[in-house]
Amino acid sequence: MPLVTTTEMFKKAYEGGYAIGAFNVNNMEIIQGITRAAKKLNAPVILQCSAGARKYASHGYLVAMVKAAAEETGLPIALHLDHGPDFETCKACIDGGFTSVMIDGSHLPYEENVALTKQVVEYAHAHGVVVEGELGTLAGVEDDVVVEEGHESYTKPEQVEDFVTRTGVDSLAIAIGTSHGAYKFKPGQKPQLRFDILEEVEKRLPGFPIVLHGASSVNQDDIKTINEFGGEMPDAIGIPEDMLRKASSMAVCKINVDSDIRIAMTAALRKHFSENPKHFDPRQYLTPARDAIEGVVSHKIETVLGCADKA
Ligand code: G3H
Ligand code: 13P
Ligand code: ZN
Repeated sequence: MPLVTTTEMFKKAYEGGYAIGAFNVNNMEIIQGITRAAKKLNAPVILQCSAGARKYASHGYLVAMVKAAAEETGLPIALHLDHGPDFETCKACIDGGFTSVMIDGSHLPYEENVALTKQVVEYAHAHGVVVEGELGTLAGVEDDVVVEEGHESYTKPEQVEDFVTRTGVDSLAIAIGTSHGAYKFKPGQKPQLRFDILEEVEKRLPGFPIVLHGASSVNQDDIKTINEFGGEMPDAIGIPEDMLRKASSMAVCKINVDSDIRIAMTAALRKHFSENPKHFDPRQYLTPARDAIEGVVSHKIETVLGCADKA
């Protein structure tokens, strides 16, 4: 099956009260782990590449591998640019086979965010590609941009109609208290999301797909495994799964997950090397890493996203 845009996926997800998982990919094993889970559970899926992923693996390899996954599985798969930093990067992805791009102007003054997003939308729509915009700023690290704690800002619901109408975006990422990376809440801190903001956005944009970034839950068993086998990860607390499930049942149609995949992969690799110190064939150690990714993604599809059997 050829790659698809997210239009149909989001329409069905909104109506069905579930969300599509958008997982960051950087190499073949990650793509295979994710798409094997999606195939097993007959789930639609978004594979997304950051600017850093394009730098690491190169555009051509990523596009070719994601196309191979779509062909092999027969699933609806969208290839999305995550956190597009500028028009040129979005254009390169639109011209080069992506079906969806995010232009992240969330750090810009409002009018500049509108102008940049509109420019990307005009180019993308002329080429059959959909666009995600962002309003509000998440804390955490993405590529080289670090948003220090205290400098994040929640989305202002009173801006969303104006932003969506003037830019023409197809989906909107909002900030309601999630953050990028493994350290979202401090030990002892009670995780909270601003569902009141999500509700207000939903009221103002009925039927419009909303995106949640920074939505990893941080599996405590994986953190324990990493530390048991020589790692040094401080206590990390993610977004509780019940909160993500609630968001998926509301206007949130796309949930972004990267850190959980990194953590599962790291735990599997550390355990494998510790138990098999003589192994040096990459197939031996990348197999449990790929299996771990398949496990994490299967769990998300079944318990958090609710998109099993929706392909
Ligand atoms: O939100 C950012 C994603 O986790 C991608 O991370 O920029 O290090 O590839 P990256
Ligand atoms: P996490 O760091 O919570 O996995 O978020 C990933 C993300 O938002 C990618 O855009
Ligand atoms: Zn993100």
